[in-house]
Amino acid sequence: MSKYVEIWDEIRSYLDFAEKSFFWEEKIQVTQKNPDDGDITVRINILKKKIESCTRCSLNLNRKQTVFGAGNVNAELLFIGEAPGEEEDIQGLPFVGRAGKLLTDIITAMGLRRDDVFICNAVKCRPPDNRTPTDEEILLCNPYLKEQIEIIKPKIIVALGAVSVRALFKSKESIFALRGRFLNFNGIKVMPTFHPGFLLRNPTYKKHTWQDIKLVMKEMNLPVPENKEKNKKQEVNSI
Ligand code: URA
Repeated sequence: MSKYVEIWDEIRSYLDFAEKSFFWEEKIQVTQKNPDDGDITVRINILKKKIESCTRCSLNLNRKQTVFGAGNVNAELLFIGEAPGEEEDIQGLPFVGRAGKLLTDIITAMGLRRDDVFICNAVKCRPPDNRTPTDEEILLCNPYLKEQIEIIKPKIIVALGAVSVRALFKSKESIFALRGRFLNFNGIKVMPTFHPGFLLRNPTYKKHTWQDIKLVMKEMNLPVPENKEKNKKQEVNSI
């Protein structure tokens, strides 16, 4: 009998030890990382499901799938594009085509990875033939974008192109006039800049986007490369 008591004592002390060390610490680690983490993931998944079944506008008729967005839901930095293109519609992920490659280069030039930021679009379904989304489509999709922003709570938003700016501010001003200065969206700093698709067609404007991105980096306390002439050429060419 005393042998059983001994074994039982041993098991109990092991369980005690396991709870205090391994399991307990893991619990603390997760909680300390971000107390809202679980909540954010749940809310994001609920929103994603809602968007997946959306039929608010006619874009649902031709889409292969909705493109919710991707990245880190705890990110400080949120990139908002226009709408999915062909490749995004196929893969269900934002910015995975040619424009996406350029956006990845921009993020890399900032010293970050795509997993460090969150990337989404103003409109969640592909417009036929990659046309610009209509005002109505932007408006009908707007509650989804606003809820995404509300859940992620980024410190800074980079609005890629005029559609993205219009979705946030209902402004029809040209991106040429708006870019390069922070705007304010519900207390979040928004940097409007050129859309990567536009930059692919007009590479001479890459240097303007790089200027805008450097302002964002400064705001995020990221190391900003010096403006030496020889570096400048390299950086601009690297995005
Ligand atoms: N252009 C966008 O605006 N979004 C994408 O996801 C791809 C291209």
